[in-house]
Amino acid sequence: MALLRLHRSNYAPHKPTTKQAAFLAYDEMGAQTPLEALYGGAAGGGKSDALLTGALLHVDKPGYSAILFRKTFQDLSLPGALLDRAQEWLLPQKVPYSHQNKTFTFPSGATLSFGYLDTENDKYRYQGAEFQFIGFDELTQFTESQYRYLLSRCRRLKDVEIPLRVRSASNPGGTGHQWVKERFVLSSRVFIAAGLIDNPHLDQEEYELALAELDPVTRAQLLHGDWDVSYADTFKPDMFNYRTKPIDGYTLFFVIDLAYTKKKTADYTAGGVVGVNAVGDIQWFYTHESRMDEAESIDWIFRTMAEWETQGVGAVHIECHSAYIHALKQEMRIRGKDFNVTPLKPEGVAKSDRILAVLPYLHRMYFREEDTWLANRFIEWSPELEGSVPDDAPDMVGYAVKLIKYNANQKAGWDKWKNPPTDPMKLKIWKQMKKGNRTTNRPEPIGF
Ligand SMILES: Nc1ncnc2c1ncn2[C@@H]1O[C@H](COP(=O)(O)OP(=O)(O)OP(=O)(O)O)[C@@H](O)[C@H]1O
Ligand SMILES: [Mg+2]
Repeated sequence: MALLRLHRSNYAPHKPTTKQAAFLAYDEMGAQTPLEALYGGAAGGGKSDALLTGALLHVDKPGYSAILFRKTFQDLSLPGALLDRAQEWLLPQKVPYSHQNKTFTFPSGATLSFGYLDTENDKYRYQGAEFQFIGFDELTQFTESQYRYLLSRCRRLKDVEIPLRVRSASNPGGTGHQWVKERFVLSSRVFIAAGLIDNPHLDQEEYELALAELDPVTRAQLLHGDWDVSYADTFKPDMFNYRTKPIDGYTLFFVIDLAYTKKKTADYTAGGVVGVNAVGDIQWFYTHESRMDEAESIDWIFRTMAEWETQGVGAVHIECHSAYIHALKQEMRIRGKDFNVTPLKPEGVAKSDRILAVLPYLHRMYFREEDTWLANRFIEWSPELEGSVPDDAPDMVGYAVKLIKYNANQKAGWDKWKNPPTDPMKLKIWKQMKKGNRTTNRPEPIGF
């Protein structure tokens, strides 16, 4: 059968798995070779490997020019990612590599380059370029307009029989989930569904264990390659627990998500005092949300601290810019107060990721009876509605979870991977941790 006769470049060391071979077979259909194909689905299925293997086909032909894209320069340079893997495969075979152009040049003169499309305008860097192979790794991280623009850069070489190919690999999920799903999964274009079990070269048990700790939607996307699960209606009324407890046994902290102006209709300042006890229960003791300007919010912080400091709140954790911290500290001097102020940094984590990270903690989070407003903010929210419903209060709860998780991760030793690990599976966990999605999933104490 055709699959077994798959022509493989001498530069690609891995013998394709059955699924990879099915994807790569579309590269060898002569004049019928389809322009576009997606290998999409579960994590670890071998998608990126297949993409690189495909790109290396035809490098023996003069004039062949291939490029592989990741979303950001950082994604490109991570250990274990595509460029790293290409270097591992090609440098021992003495293929010259230019760091400056991120380009390998083969003895035939053919080239394989690596690029990124971080901003929408980055695509114009390829204005005059021509490629016969364009690969996108993690396609759902790109916009449809970037993809379409690059598609126009895929041009045939005169007098050389090399088919034009745009090949992509991706997990479901991410900002481009919907357009990728419509373009490939729901259309007649070539789509190979990747499953975790397709890749015998991966420690699947360990991988599954790691993925089991993600929220249910991400888990279904990464473990089963599910393109249909969605975060719409993620938070349901029956997920919220209500009770009121005395503060004994809880370590308390005060967390605030600021909106700097009261003019914008959707922005609120939200804050609360929350406690964690030795068995990991999270109890909200005070919550508040209102539209306030900077001076009002500073005044509110002082009033709240005056009330709660005596009960054990030592620090205010605030998501804000440094000018606000400066103003707050100045006011502290004027008022003769000195509480600890810790700025919370978004660290490039999307707001929706912070809010979704609350999900695995909800079953042990308790709200006061009068906090149904806070639960409603979650229930009304979904990532698809970003910006059109108030999300400051859920974000504030997300920050609280982040603080609790940070302490738990430190206890569990997950923070020991300071730098990106080279092992691809550990790298995946590390990336999820950075994203704020990882939970420790342990019943151990997570208090401070
Ligand atoms: N045919 C193969 N032979 C040997 N090793 C392979 C093969 N295919 C993939 N691998 C290895 O398995 C690991 C996972 O593969 P790869 O990174 O391509 O998966 P992926 O589907 O892109 O995963 P992710 O969804 O995490 O991006 C890598 O270490 C890769 O080198
Ligand atoms: Mg990959």
